Amino acid sequence: MSKTEARLAELQIQYDQFVEAGLKLDLTRGKPSAEQLDLSNELDGILKGFYILQDGTDVRNYGGILGIPEARKLGADLLGVSTDSVMVGGNSSLTLMYHYVAHKVRQWRAAGASEFKFLCPVPGYDRHFTICEDFDIEMINVPLLADGPDMDMIEKLVSEDAAIKGIWCVPKYANPTGQTYSRGVVERIAALPLAAADGFQIMWDNAYSVHDLEGTTEDLPDLLALAAEKGTADQVAILASTSKITLAGAGISFLAATPAQLKAFEKYLSAQTIGFDKVNQLRHVHFLEDMDGIKAHMVKHRDIIKPKFDLVLKKLQDHLGGKDLATWTTPAGGYFISLDTKPGLASEVVAMAGAAGVKLTPAGATYPYGKDPDNTNIRIAPTYPSIEELDQAMDVFVTCVELATLGTV
Ligand SMILES: Cc1ncc(COP(=O)(O)O)c(C=O)c1O
Repeated sequence: MSKTEARLAELQIQYDQFVEAGLKLDLTRGKPSAEQLDLSNELDGILKGFYILQDGTDVRNYGGILGIPEARKLGADLLGVSTDSVMVGGNSSLTLMYHYVAHKVRQWRAAGASEFKFLCPVPGYDRHFTICEDFDIEMINVPLLADGPDMDMIEKLVSEDAAIKGIWCVPKYANPTGQTYSRGVVERIAALPLAAADGFQIMWDNAYSVHDLEGTTEDLPDLLALAAEKGTADQVAILASTSKITLAGAGISFLAATPAQLKAFEKYLSAQTIGFDKVNQLRHVHFLEDMDGIKAHMVKHRDIIKPKFDLVLKKLQDHLGGKDLATWTTPAGGYFISLDTKPGLASEVVAMAGAAGVKLTPAGATYPYGKDPDNTNIRIAPTYPSIEELDQAMDVFVTCVELATLGTV
């Protein structure tokens, strides 16, 4: 028996034991754990009956589609932009993204366009891709390089094809790769609309701007300011929310754009709502207060989730390190670890782990249309399970990666 055959037999025994154990573990979605949600329980009841703002607004009543001034200021601090550039929405930034794209598609159609394409840095966030599919926007994969998307490729594509109308970016601690775009890349993105023949929308989803895993934060240049210098600011939409700061299902969301663009979007929104939940906006202002409050709160999250990331990385290193079985990211922030198997193996690993009771995000989900051309990428989300569950799940996972790889050599 060769060394590989012996190892394969050993792994198969281990794997069979996992299957027999009847595990039920989940590493799929990047959800905060109950312990993280508990950090924000104080939100409930924080207003203690005080609903009237300094300007006399009663937050319980209708109105104020752009949000209460105090929450717009909080969003402006979070996004590093001016308060008049920010609107505050309901609990989901994804909803704002969906509607912003709907609003733009309507504008482009009114201007006579009928074909729409978006650039999608890959691997990326599956729900961005779902929005495109919903609007029949064709998606074009753009590889993520060490410092952000491949800008040479993007500039070339945008200058050659007027149907390319936009790009999705998760510029800081990206989902799933964890990388932060460099200054050079952000400067080139700010200039993209100048290369486009007929309008261009930058969807800048800054979902993880304060989600540091280390004691430091990575620096992300201010896109809106850079775009203003280039005269392209009207084509920028910056998104964020408190979903992974306070409560994932009951936070508040933010959209930053130029005041002119906000006004146009307000008109679009006003056909469907008289205003978002201002009571929750005020709760968040009382609870988080300002940027210092947000930062202090995020340290508490870090204390809970950092050991989980460390555990996953240790398991990967101990079992797969130095064996040419897989490569993976070591993020300094965000919610994910991105692992690449050898080409062609991701779906097999996910299926094997599933059969042993460990649910992983479906292979391909990090690519438009669910199609990872090399079938390599797997997104690991360590935040939700307990340390004990994570420990077990990772034992299964690394066994599946090694088994799938050796089984095909
Ligand atoms: C990059 C990115 N954007 C947006 C969201 C969802 O944001 P929200 O809860 O504000 O809709 C997520 C959640 O996983 C995400 O990873």
